[in-house]
Amino acid sequence: MLNIAVFVSGRGSNLRAIYEKVPKSKVVISAVVSDKKDCKAIEFAKEKNIPVYFVSSKEKEDFISYFKLIDELKRLNVDLIVLAGFLKKIPDEFVDAFENKIINIHPALLPSFGGKGMYGIYVHQAVFNSSAKVSGATVHFVDKIYDNGKIIAQRAVDIEDVKSPEEIAERVLKIEHELLPYVVEKFADNKIKIENNRVLILE
Ligand code: GAR
Repeated sequence: MLNIAVFVSGRGSNLRAIYEKVPKSKVVISAVVSDKKDCKAIEFAKEKNIPVYFVSSKEKEDFISYFKLIDELKRLNVDLIVLAGFLKKIPDEFVDAFENKIINIHPALLPSFGGKGMYGIYVHQAVFNSSAKVSGATVHFVDKIYDNGKIIAQRAVDIEDVKSPEEIAERVLKIEHELLPYVVEKFADNKIKIENNRVLILE
């Protein structure tokens, strides 16, 4: 059984996709972590009785520090941390504490359209303005640099005929809801390996 923590900041549709699509016999979500107290993702976690934690690098009532969060997630024996629309940068000490155990979903085909400020609709606006004909979603390992870690899986989508960034967002989100549960299940099946510096997904 893979024990995961899912980090969120808003709508939580990727959290829902993991919850609904990865078999319960393979994965347990033992914590949902957010930098926002009131958001749809937190509502969903509470509805499903998943323990929630609020994290902040500043001192705030009801929020814990990243140091405390490291202790909590280790105490819960979390195997994998999934950033599913978590929009804050993860501090270096947190990345060190969970080396190769943090993954992120990004709504474009990395290494293009990533980096600081590239999140949510800003990504799709940049893709739209570039006039690119394909976009997609990327799941990658998280290291200390924004959107830089090794790529685990990607799916592309045709956007040649789109009329707005919102239309790209809609097409990409559909793919995200397939790709992220697929990758989480592959982790649960122990089918993700790093060999010769490349990430492999075994059948
Ligand atoms: C998703 O599109 C995700 O790829 C994106 O935020 C959205 C969250 O939606 N993440 C980033 O842009 C990270 N750079 P959700 O809360 O409905 O899952």
